[in-house]
Amino acid sequence: MQPPADGTLRVLHLSDTHLTGDGALHQGAVDTTGALESVLARVDGVPGFGLVVVSGDVSEDGTPESYAAVLERVGGWAERHGAALVAVPGNHDLREGFRQVLANGHVLGEGGRPLAHTMEYHPPTVPVWGQSLVSGRRVVTVDTSVPGAGYGEISDASLDRLRGALAEEHAPYGTIVVLHHPPLPAPTALHEALRLRNTESLADVIRGTDVRVVLAGHYHHHFAGSLAGVPVLVAPGVANDTEVTGAYDEEAASISSGALVVDVARDGSVWSTPVRVLRPDADRLAFTFDADTVDRIIEASTRP
Ligand SMILES: [Fe+2]
Repeated sequence: MQPPADGTLRVLHLSDTHLTGDGALHQGAVDTTGALESVLARVDGVPGFGLVVVSGDVSEDGTPESYAAVLERVGGWAERHGAALVAVPGNHDLREGFRQVLANGHVLGEGGRPLAHTMEYHPPTVPVWGQSLVSGRRVVTVDTSVPGAGYGEISDASLDRLRGALAEEHAPYGTIVVLHHPPLPAPTALHEALRLRNTESLADVIRGTDVRVVLAGHYHHHFAGSLAGVPVLVAPGVANDTEVTGAYDEEAASISSGALVVDVARDGSVWSTPVRVLRPDADRLAFTFDADTVDRIIEASTRP
């Protein structure tokens, strides 16, 4: 692949790794550890990464072991490439296990150097929050997870912190926001029910600021859109790929993994290159849910 232009920050955008602590197959079908390793191997020869992002559903089961497995693989890869590493929780993550291993999610700083964190106890009701500076960009992670639910919501406290971070001294080349639930419509009824609920509040906070791009996940398929004039990129899932052309009220996914290579120039221009890992040996479908099953899942994941 073409090296990043001078002064451009190249980001490896991973999402929905869904690693399990005991190596159990995701939805009985996918070895997610193997899927993650194959994605990392696929992009190993791409030059010039400065930042690796995991935009949520880092873990399937929330166990410290699952986060340690991600840290070993993605952390090791980022260090070897001299890239920073940040992660943010998604609806499958558990804040306790996440914090135990990944602290506030800002694991490696510029050049792949470990970031020091003071160990602070936060109850799981407190959203994870982190920000760091990578190659002149402010990288802010916003926790959209709602404990016990599948949909996303940014708490008032997190919106205030984001507003505060964006009001601080101008980052030389702008801000990158990383979150799990995309502030975009979803392709299927299930994902629509589990989408970010207060998209407008996020739009109000980022409108007119130096935010250059919002990196998200959750939909397990690559989408591009915009919010308040800011590009929003949704990375394909590492775990599987949502079937977007089927009936709206049904849900299915194929066994396929991918990632985005996102270049962010100093002037805020964004260029995204999707990368797929072909698995011709795998069964095509990871899972399929009929409309009744989707209804039951929505009911269980949106209960207050
Ligand atoms: Fe996911």
